[in-house]
Amino acid sequence: MKNIVTLTVNPAIDKSTTVTCIKPNSKLRCTTPIFEAGGGGINISRVIHELNEISTCLYLAGGPTGTHLHQLLEAENISQQMIPILGWTRENLAVTDTTTHQQFRFGMPGPDVSEEECTKVLKHLELILSEGDYLVASGSLSPKMSVDFFAKVATIAKSKKVKFILDSSGEPLVYGAKAGVFLLKPNLGELSRLCGVDAIHFSEIETLAQNFLRNNPCEVMVVSLGPQGAVMVTKNTVDYIAAPIVLQQSTIGAGDSMVAGMILGLAQGKSLVEMAKYGVACGTAATMTPGTQLCRKKDVDALYKWITENSKENTKININT
Ligand SMILES: Nc1ncnc2c1ncn2[C@@H]1O[C@H](COP(=O)(O)OP(=O)(O)OP(=O)(O)O)[C@@H](O)[C@H]1O
Ligand SMILES: [Mg+2]
Repeated sequence: MKNIVTLTVNPAIDKSTTVTCIKPNSKLRCTTPIFEAGGGGINISRVIHELNEISTCLYLAGGPTGTHLHQLLEAENISQQMIPILGWTRENLAVTDTTTHQQFRFGMPGPDVSEEECTKVLKHLELILSEGDYLVASGSLSPKMSVDFFAKVATIAKSKKVKFILDSSGEPLVYGAKAGVFLLKPNLGELSRLCGVDAIHFSEIETLAQNFLRNNPCEVMVVSLGPQGAVMVTKNTVDYIAAPIVLQQSTIGAGDSMVAGMILGLAQGKSLVEMAKYGVACGTAATMTPGTQLCRKKDVDALYKWITENSKENTKININT
């Protein structure tokens, strides 16, 4: 299998707890919190590990929370490389009210990352990447980081002949995609942003995605459609992959699990359609686990088998290209 490197610029410690009856102006006694390593690329590495494969989990972290993050990944046996920064790694908080079962999720912005620290990351990538590797950057940038950071990463990946996968949002995603990405996995909101439109009707997805690929240095786009599955688009083909209907517990981590499945599929040499099917299997499997839990291998295997056996040949080939 080819090497996979995941990059998380703004990771987090996800702290979750429960409380009986959230009400203002009173001391709320929470249960013992659970700590988990979080952030796009970190989640992807954790899913790859769950699927019995190895990736290098590269991230920026600092302060005592950064040390804690390192320990959490170590406890999960994730192969990791931490780039130390001055600012403290953020800690997000999720509190579930046991009387209403409502979950309140508080996300922190993350530490400032200096220009020098960004340069350190780019130099490190130059050092560790080799031809044929897969690099995936996932998640948000830290506040004050230059909006073209993923574009710089894309340029390094190109010069190293590394396949770059980007799953981010907003301007950083647009800059990255314009600089060159092998595989993009936008949801509908992110696709609108990439294409500069306010909203997308279902019937427009294929055309918008193909136009984007034809006008930008990107090869494959898998547009994720939540419970509807995904549509995989290249310049000449369109494939729909329906998501199986499952007993849904929580959709948290569906996107990251999907991206993990697709990269693993690519690194294992699967065809583009098979890698998209495997991605949908992983994304849907993540919805079968409660809370922040990612996908489980036994669910992924069963769903992938189901998708493979039940998918009809629905590739559309554009002959007018
Ligand atoms: N309700 C659901 N039922 C079945 N599968 C789902 C559901 N929601 C998500 N999925 C699976 O997960 C994949 C990714 O989901 P989605 O399109 O919501 O990504 P996303 O918006 O990037 O998610 P995230 O918020 O985690 O970043 C889908 O393509 C599908 O396979
Ligand atoms: Mg997403």
